[in-house]
Amino acid sequence: MKYFIITGTSRGIGESIAEQLISPEHYLLCISRERNMKLISKSNNIEYIEFDLNQIDQIESLMDRIFNSIDLSNAVGIYLINNASMIAPVAFIDTATVKDITGNINVNLLAPILLTSLLIKHTNNHLIEKRILNISSASVKNHHPGMSLYSAAKAGLDVFSQCVALEQNHSQAPVGIVSIWPGMIDTNLQREARNQDKATFPSAELFGMVKDAGMLSSPEETAQQIIEFLFKKDFEHGAVVDIYDYSKVQQHFDAPNETF
Ligand SMILES: NC(=O)c1ccc[n+]([C@@H]2O[C@H](COP(=O)([O-])OP(=O)(O)OC[C@H]3O[C@@H](n4cnc5c(N)ncnc54)[C@H](OP(=O)(O)O)[C@@H]3O)[C@@H](O)[C@H]2O)c1
Repeated sequence: MKYFIITGTSRGIGESIAEQLISPEHYLLCISRERNMKLISKSNNIEYIEFDLNQIDQIESLMDRIFNSIDLSNAVGIYLINNASMIAPVAFIDTATVKDITGNINVNLLAPILLTSLLIKHTNNHLIEKRILNISSASVKNHHPGMSLYSAAKAGLDVFSQCVALEQNHSQAPVGIVSIWPGMIDTNLQREARNQDKATFPSAELFGMVKDAGMLSSPEETAQQIIEFLFKKDFEHGAVVDIYDYSKVQQHFDAPNETF
């Protein structure tokens, strides 16, 4: 059996990844605040865990629970996809509340760090295929006023992945780890960006233009690319990988690099 721990499976890219991974040889452990009944109805090999990743102090017991469900002696592979994310608060930093700032960094950076650490700890003695995909964003290099937290958290996630990859090179049973930039995808997260008030988030217009120009990928095609990457023979351990062709967007709008 191959085990997949996937965060953010209630909608968007995470839901499509989980859907496409359904197979009798795969056991899925899906995490989000809202239970995805459509997903659950499609397979008996899904354990759905309603959990708020902002509850940082409960992530250790979450992973204890998950590893109680996993028979490591029978596992041929274990995979963690840190996909859950939020862009809120979309706000200039002096207008964001301390609670909202903390929540963003908890969900986007601290939760994936803790899940990564705990996955490595729980599987240290197991010589099976172990891979972690951290879903990051080109927002690491394409900056927008009002998205400082999202960009900073994703930059942190990239650097964290690269450093952990170096650590794993010293392990007897290493975990492969990669950070991936999936592109611009037609999901709730995009909708949230373009629906912001332009007075407080000037880039809302840019996000709207990309949608109107039909340049957003679908969650299904992005999930397919991510899964292909997850199973790739050469996993590119330690890399930050951009799987979207941004040049088509830049050319379409005749925009300078690093606009979107
Ligand atoms: N869409 C894009 O254009 C784009 C671009 C670059 C990168 N990405 C990245 O792709 C990944 C997926 O994004 P998406 O576009 O599919 O977003 P989405 O449609 O908004 O889905 C986000 C998922 O994260 C979960 N989530 C959010 N807060 C959570 C919390 N506190 N606890 C547990 N789960 C939580 C949500 O579930 P609940 O609300 O049910 O908890 C939902 O399932 C993210 O890492 C995002 O940064 C997306």
